[in-house]
Amino acid sequence: MADQENHSWPMAPALIYQKSDEENPTFKAIRKERTNNKCFVFIFAGIVIHCIFILVFALIVLRPKSPDVKLRSVTVKGLRYATSPWPSFNATLTAEITIKNPNFGSFRFENTTASLVYEGVKIGGKRTSKSGVNARGTKVMNVGIDVRSSRLPEGPNNLGNDLNSGTLKLSGQAKFSGTLHLVKILRCKKTSELNCTFTLYLTSRTIKDLLCY
Ligand SMILES: *[C@@H]1O[C@H](CO)[C@@H](O)[C@H](O)[C@H]1NC(C)=O
Ligand SMILES: *[C@@H]1O[C@H](CO)[C@@H](O)[C@H](O)[C@H]1NC(C)=O
Ligand SMILES: *[C@@H]1O[C@H](CO)[C@@H](O)[C@H](O)[C@H]1NC(C)=O
Repeated sequence: MADQENHSWPMAPALIYQKSDEENPTFKAIRKERTNNKCFVFIFAGIVIHCIFILVFALIVLRPKSPDVKLRSVTVKGLRYATSPWPSFNATLTAEITIKNPNFGSFRFENTTASLVYEGVKIGGKRTSKSGVNARGTKVMNVGIDVRSSRLPEGPNNLGNDLNSGTLKLSGQAKFSGTLHLVKILRCKKTSELNCTFTLYLTSRTIKDLLCY
């Protein structure tokens, strides 16, 4: 039984190496071949490990993420409102928007339109020009938007009631579409949207209840 075990060399190669050292040239040849095979296995394992590293790197570093757009605050300037002869209001609202780029590459965006909406109607808008955010950077933009109630369509609306109650519910929307430059050859389109609501308090000329979706 013990003899058989010694000769079944794939199961116990160490024993064969010990025996074969000076005795048998064929064993030497086998050993050499096996060492070469071992080398190949190590090189192959090295390549596999490298591939895994590159894959992990690609997944973490090159995975494109949409920039994070937030409406930080809204300030009110030049607010004028009247309920007679007909309800109307005008103001300039300045939105502080931050665009955070989590990617390891810069994000360049084209013209963006920021809109202010009252009861589903756009009462003010502003185009912002081309701009960009550096890799893993944050850009702060102050966008001043003139709002005019005269942009509301003719017909019945709640403006008179809202002006009398002293609060106006508005919403702000913006869409940032641009190109993400991850590495020189890798580009992709990304869009980030802003969709928020807030309440304008007329007497204190302040914005409260800023909520974003
Ligand atoms: C708002 O502006 C328009 C013209 O831009 C003007 O006719 C209107 O009287 C203004 N409203 C108030 C309340 O000042
Ligand atoms: C951006 O604005 C410029 C000038 O206002 C215009 O020529 C261009 O077509 C706009 N680009 C987009 C993508 O809207
Ligand atoms: C903004 O969000 C509200 C609430 O989730 C949704 O009803 C509305 O359609 C959204 N508007 C846009 C332009 O995405």
